[in-house]
Amino acid sequence: MKGTSISNNDRVEVLVHALPYIQAFTGKTVVVKYGGNAMINEALKAAVIQDLILMSCVGIRTVLVHGGGPEIEAMLNAVGKESRFVQGLRYTDEETMEVVQMVLCGKVNKDITALIQQAGGKALGLCGIDGGLLQGRLFKSEGEDLGLVGEIETVNTAVLENVLDSGAIPVISSVALGVGDAAGHTLNVNADIAAAEIAVAIKAEKLILMTDVQGILRNIQDPDSLIKQLSRAELENLKKTGVVSKGMIPKTDCCSLALDGGVRKAHIIDGRLPHALLIELFTDEGIGTMIER
Ligand code: ARG
Repeated sequence: MKGTSISNNDRVEVLVHALPYIQAFTGKTVVVKYGGNAMINEALKAAVIQDLILMSCVGIRTVLVHGGGPEIEAMLNAVGKESRFVQGLRYTDEETMEVVQMVLCGKVNKDITALIQQAGGKALGLCGIDGGLLQGRLFKSEGEDLGLVGEIETVNTAVLENVLDSGAIPVISSVALGVGDAAGHTLNVNADIAAAEIAVAIKAEKLILMTDVQGILRNIQDPDSLIKQLSRAELENLKKTGVVSKGMIPKTDCCSLALDGGVRKAHIIDGRLPHALLIELFTDEGIGTMIER
């Protein structure tokens, strides 16, 4: 046996502790947004893949939505493409969009799909273009033109349901098919928002956002001040009082979008910790912040 030695009694205790959650979640849909450190560090990556396969094995209809920020950045640099930022968002011109699509759909998506397959799981890599899975229009941030940045208008859930029914994990990159004012183009969509929109459309039980922070901290300076659980209403208060600030605002906005759309629970977890997904799902305490509708 490798690893730290725990007794067989401990091993079965872990399984038995997980049983009520396995019973509760089997047959339900969980949408996971994969991003940040957990996508870069090899050991963390391998742990995420195991978690997803285990979830799928116990009957959780698992949907994976991924980003790819650093790889897009690296490729833009490699081809000598300068980026212009509008209100902190990357202006996506035609050339940039080509790179985004190549890197996200061609490279990152297939790498993740390959890892799941190689680890003995079943995965089907898709982007929002395939089967018209994600269709969107141009997104304007406070009237500012961002180029080919999209906001999702429709999610074709039939495509996803088919993949899930076949027992595979759909691995989705957040590139959408343009419709309306964006017809004829493909669009760069924020992966957190895509995950939330997909969770709503597919009537998911949970949305889980993997981030590089512990969760919502009551005091941003104090790592011991993690808020483990709160309601949608309490979240609104934390926003008003400024406890939720800066980078946490868009994350919690995605959670609100999902919860308001009928998703029962939204979780913000720390992807820097190995097996964060399994800990959150199959223990009472979890590891991050859980927001309930
Ligand atoms: N495992 C349970 C669930 O997924 C409880 C998780 C509790 N997590 C938390 N951050 N308080 O619903």
